[in-house]
Amino acid sequence: MSNIKILNDASESLAILVDSKGKFAYIGDHSGAEELMSSSGDSEAVRILDSNGGIAIPGFVDGHSHPVFAGDRVHEFAMKLAGATYMEVQQAGGGIMFTTNKTREASEKELRSDFEEIAKKMLRSGTTTLEAKSGYGLNVDAEMKMLRVLATENPSIPLEVSATFCGAHAVPKGSTEAEQTRMICDELIPQIESEKKMGNLTNVENIDVFCEKDVFEVESSQKILKRGQEAGMAVNFHAEELKYIGGVEMGARIGARAMSHLEEISEEGIRLMSSSGSVAVLLPSTAFILRLTPPPARKLIGNGVIVALGSDFNPNAYCFAMPMIMHFACVTMKLSMPEALTAATLNSAHSIGRGKTHGAIAKGRNADFVILSANSWEHIIYRIAAHDDVIRHVIKNGNVV
Ligand code: NIG
Ligand code: FE
Repeated sequence: MSNIKILNDASESLAILVDSKGKFAYIGDHSGAEELMSSSGDSEAVRILDSNGGIAIPGFVDGHSHPVFAGDRVHEFAMKLAGATYMEVQQAGGGIMFTTNKTREASEKELRSDFEEIAKKMLRSGTTTLEAKSGYGLNVDAEMKMLRVLATENPSIPLEVSATFCGAHAVPKGSTEAEQTRMICDELIPQIESEKKMGNLTNVENIDVFCEKDVFEVESSQKILKRGQEAGMAVNFHAEELKYIGGVEMGARIGARAMSHLEEISEEGIRLMSSSGSVAVLLPSTAFILRLTPPPARKLIGNGVIVALGSDFNPNAYCFAMPMIMHFACVTMKLSMPEALTAATLNSAHSIGRGKTHGAIAKGRNADFVILSANSWEHIIYRIAAHDDVIRHVIKNGNVV
């Protein structure tokens, strides 16, 4: 072992050692840490971070976001407050198509720089891994541009991204559901496949569809998702948000790794998610903003469904702070605080295929964690929009961000 680092030097409390690959090597008392360090024989490489008796929790894994976009939709908030529904805002020229037009006009450089600003803020609020979707391009050029932004690594911003191709986010004016479905299956997915073969876009791991009445119905959603599966992507999609159409039943049938939203999920859907092991990614800020009846989180948990949380950060629901998302989940969906923390870490890691490597403080896992300054960890959820005061350090792969 080399380059191990000891965190939390307060002699009474826990010591954490991280190895040179950025994995947890030891979690335990100080004497055990000292022993391991002296036996590793590489004391030179040891760096000490004194966390002053802070509390360590896993870094947050945000299970659902749309963080690459251009344009401003603040005006829609007033429309929604005045009673307009999500679909009414879209029909009035707002929503996904508004953002798509702005995103098509923006350069790749502008999108990258805006995303990097958001990524820095996400890291500061404790998110160390992010599921992030395309879906504001909706044609070949603009979707590929978004995926390239999501695939770009910037060592100074170590947010880990599991990218999701969401070319089926809306049907643009002048096109039809069938035409979009054909374009996605016959042009876009093959292009992603060939980029991947050349070693590009390697983090494009998931395929998504906004499976919703009057957007992509169950049949075309299934076609797109299965085509994505053939290309090696895991199925992780928007289902039963506004109207029940049987998307979950379809998702369970084709082996979806995760499904999001689920405000309108059926009893049968709950049963199928439980037996198939598909993760329910719940998005409390969206249900809150759109004044939707929240998804039946207690019923999902009671039936053994794995429940995860996502920020759904997008121009409709402008919140990327997972502490706030956990707070919403506790109040509006009746999760307990330990359930919310598990949903925002281990379970959301599982929703993006990282359930064995991320999302927990355990030997061998990625050393992604947050050190809190508070007398109990619950302060990170309890304090409304005041998490900045609670977060002392954010650590990704063993490095303080
Ligand atoms: O998850 N419901 C579809 N997609 C997003 C919203 C995208 C947007 O309004 O820009 C969601 O809430
Ligand atoms: Fe979404």
